[in-house]
Amino acid sequence: MSTRTASGAKTLPGKYYTSAEIFQLESQNIFKKQWLYAGRISQLKKTGSYFLFNIDHESIIILRDQNDEVKAMHNVCRHRGTRLCSEAEGELSKTIQCPYHAWTYDLQGNLLAAPNMSEVTGFDNADYPLHRVAMSVWEGSVFINLAENPEPFEKAFKPLIGKFEQWHMSELAVAHRLVYEMDANWKLIFQNYSECYHCPNLHPQLNRLTPFRNSANDLEEGPFLGGPMKFAQNFQSMTMSGRRCAAPLGGISGEDLRLVYYYTIFPNMLLSLHPDYVLIHQIQRQSPTHTRIVCDWLFHPDAMAKPDFDAGDAIKFWNTTNKQDWQVSELSQQGIASQVYAPGPYSELESMIADWDRHYLKALSIHSNSH
Ligand code: FES
Ligand SMILES: [Fe+2]
Repeated sequence: MSTRTASGAKTLPGKYYTSAEIFQLESQNIFKKQWLYAGRISQLKKTGSYFLFNIDHESIIILRDQNDEVKAMHNVCRHRGTRLCSEAEGELSKTIQCPYHAWTYDLQGNLLAAPNMSEVTGFDNADYPLHRVAMSVWEGSVFINLAENPEPFEKAFKPLIGKFEQWHMSELAVAHRLVYEMDANWKLIFQNYSECYHCPNLHPQLNRLTPFRNSANDLEEGPFLGGPMKFAQNFQSMTMSGRRCAAPLGGISGEDLRLVYYYTIFPNMLLSLHPDYVLIHQIQRQSPTHTRIVCDWLFHPDAMAKPDFDAGDAIKFWNTTNKQDWQVSELSQQGIASQVYAPGPYSELESMIADWDRHYLKALSIHSNSH
């Protein structure tokens, strides 16, 4: 069980939730440096399937090429910079064509054709491929990194690699997706997710299944934080009924049948592992006071193929819980903006937030010191 305590830590000063300057600093020192969760490989069903990952002024095309490999490249034409793809997801033919002057790229980003450019002395298609983006796939999830020299993914994700093997996550597919808009700073989502102090009051449906003190932490420092919560009585999963919606995933057995695991994956992913399904929240920061949250319910395709498959019990449960959480986060945002707001003391039940804040501040300042 957890050994850490909040040890006198307090909430962050208000500027971290409201200031445009801090937002900008986060862009430079966090979101342009760290590996970011972009989506699921199962969203790319065939050659030419793509989805966009947008952050700040950047738009990244993530696609499946002719060799069945996943590639990530900037959505910026090498001619005059035009956005190539504007739909959030879709199917490309064998090429990507710019809507402006029809420069045409293959699915690896090589420039194939540039009408009339042969009249330009020295022009060579080979000099104008789309800009590549560093990409890695872990457990069926696609991560990208916008840094010039990214930390190798395997190094950055070392504490997590191999940790969740028994869920066979790479086999899972998205059974349902909900997108939420929330008028609050993105960090309030991470902080809300990192404690169950609020559960008895805010989430009676959740606290019934996993009473708030049934929690433990197995990652307590750094970019990945979290651990398991134990089901009360004979409950089997986080659903309205408390029963599983599907058979336990791949290798789940023994004690793991009695647990749900929650992790924050800095800086834009929440991972919730249930015996029968996995929930992923992608946190998309839009402004200091607005956040979009994409929530995916992942199930095994074998379970989804069954005629009586119904994820409704799990969807309703987390949709209810999400809305409760976003609502209090919006109320927090409003109060934090007040002139009387000052950092308040964390309870011992909020020790993980203190850990999260510490890591956030470290990440935020790391690069600004050197410039
Ligand atoms: S801007 Fe893309 S072809 Fe001209
Ligand atoms: Fe909550």
